[in-house]
Amino acid sequence: MFKTFKAMKSYIQPYKKLYISSALMTLVFALLAIVDPYLVGQIIDHVLTDQDTTFVIMGSLIIMGVTIFRTMLRYGYFVTFEKFSQKVVYDLRKDLYVKLQSLDFSYFDKTPNGQIMSKMTGDIEAIRHFFAWITHVTIFHSVVFIIAIIAMFMINPVLASTLILIVPFITFFSIRLSKSVKPIFAEIREQFSKLNTVVQENISGNKLVKALAREPYEIEKFQKENEAYKEKNMDAAKVWEDNLPALDAFAVLFNVVVLFVGSILILKGKMTIGELVAFNRLLWMINNPLRMLGWMINGTQNFVASFDRVKELLDEKSDLIEHKESIAHTHLKGYVRFEKVSFHYEDLPVLEDVSFEVNPGQTVGLLGSTGSGKSTLISLISRFYEATSGQILIDGEPIESYDIYTLRNNISIAMQDIFLFSDTIEGNIAYGVPDASRIKVRLAAEIAGVNEFIHQFDDNYDTIVGERGVGLSGGQRQRIALARAIIEDPAILILDDTTSAVDMETEYKILTELKKINENRTTFIIAHRISSVKDADIILVMDEGRIIERGTHTSLLEEQGYYYDVFTQQMGEFDVETREGA
Ligand SMILES: Nc1ncnc2c1ncn2[C@@H]1O[C@H](COP(=O)(O)OP(=O)(O)OP(=O)(O)O)[C@@H](O)[C@H]1O
Ligand SMILES: [Mg+2]
Repeated sequence: MFKTFKAMKSYIQPYKKLYISSALMTLVFALLAIVDPYLVGQIIDHVLTDQDTTFVIMGSLIIMGVTIFRTMLRYGYFVTFEKFSQKVVYDLRKDLYVKLQSLDFSYFDKTPNGQIMSKMTGDIEAIRHFFAWITHVTIFHSVVFIIAIIAMFMINPVLASTLILIVPFITFFSIRLSKSVKPIFAEIREQFSKLNTVVQENISGNKLVKALAREPYEIEKFQKENEAYKEKNMDAAKVWEDNLPALDAFAVLFNVVVLFVGSILILKGKMTIGELVAFNRLLWMINNPLRMLGWMINGTQNFVASFDRVKELLDEKSDLIEHKESIAHTHLKGYVRFEKVSFHYEDLPVLEDVSFEVNPGQTVGLLGSTGSGKSTLISLISRFYEATSGQILIDGEPIESYDIYTLRNNISIAMQDIFLFSDTIEGNIAYGVPDASRIKVRLAAEIAGVNEFIHQFDDNYDTIVGERGVGLSGGQRQRIALARAIIEDPAILILDDTTSAVDMETEYKILTELKKINENRTTFIIAHRISSVKDADIILVMDEGRIIERGTHTSLLEEQGYYYDVFTQQMGEFDVETREGA
């Protein structure tokens, strides 16, 4: 608890004034609660003993004034606590988001989206709830409880002591309640995240569900989680219901004791009627805090647990080791060299002893069976993952010696798994260079062959594409991704399976256009089709993480190895021009 507050210090500190002022308002609001029971008691005694009406009028006026003042205070601290909590979670959310941007592929590989989303929403909400509600409820009830106890002892120690005897019982019930609800709360949260995952996956995979006619199964799957969620909530409600009668009984017991012991004391002349009434009006001030105890404990525990989860993400370290004296803001030439590079995903060996070199302006073709490590190889160049052994050099320097932004700014990748934002086509193309001129966007689009299909959309480049590019064909998406990579004008351009979904004629056009602009640029083309790589200066053929053949189209055909086999299999698809080239 205190650890959590300490860890949150930097978030609370900037809004300390807001926090203190709202806490003070709550404190005064709670302290003034004593005015009503005290004055009512006094008024009754004055009326009964000396029929003093001025005191009655004065007292009533004070009660009215205090009530109005308290209403204002209550409004004040509600608003201030809300403001304070919103500011704190705003900063926290921002830091979480910035952190997410800094984390590397390996974090996202191992963390489900649902888990990240639940930190950004559910846990942040629990933290907000604590600052907006639990804090002032706790301050208010603690203060009210303490002054009520003091007031009771001042009015009549005998009656006060009798009441105190009941306090441990209510406390016990309240704490027991919070203890039995706690695990259920955790289960509810867990179940809610399961329910969310089912819905999220169903929406993302809606086409697959329909294509395989699995709607009934999906409904059943959802119903199962929905039912479990309902049950867990019912369990929580049941715990409250089971304990409520006991808590209510104690509240009644308070009344009975006050009435019974109070009457005896009055009869014995040890207490006035006014004092008894005042006592009665103080009862809620000790009863409510005790009843709320469980709620306050749960809210606080929830807050601590949620903050721990959020902190876990905030403390997450990127696997990248940044060197202090890194080379920044340079424009790289694009000389790439792999020296005995091996890479493992956790324990799975993916690349073994890969060595090759490319000069600026050269094109490397990467060919190989599915899962042979092509995408992994190129992801090492941008340091999305760190090589397990060996070294990668760019322009003669190990890639680790570059500042990570400089390195990545010099490399653009059209990734195999294409992602488009819900934005215009132009916005998607210019994503990496937001200040790119229209002309630049059009130029990149033209090279990538986007201009060939853009006219089918009414709004041309201003057409908004749906989430992940809904409304576009696979080949259209690939061409947008290619334009996005080209527009960055990188030293190293990497195309991972980028033309696999476009027809061969379009691919040929695109590759010819690319050649024109790539004179000084190092280009990697990953493909399964010979037609995509045949013109490359160097072709690397990969299998099970190793380079098994290397050479040019002609030399590889002469070797009559893997490349030759693939070529003969695909030959039927080739046009005359290609065959002549062979
Ligand atoms: N994030 C990851 N975590 C663990 N293993 C991975 C990860 N990504 C890829 N792999 C594994 O690494 C191996 C190489 O994958 P990679 O994506 O590099 O192949 P590829 O040659 O690009 O295949 P494709 O032609 O199908 O795109 C595969 O066995 C794959 O299962
Ligand atoms: Mg791949």
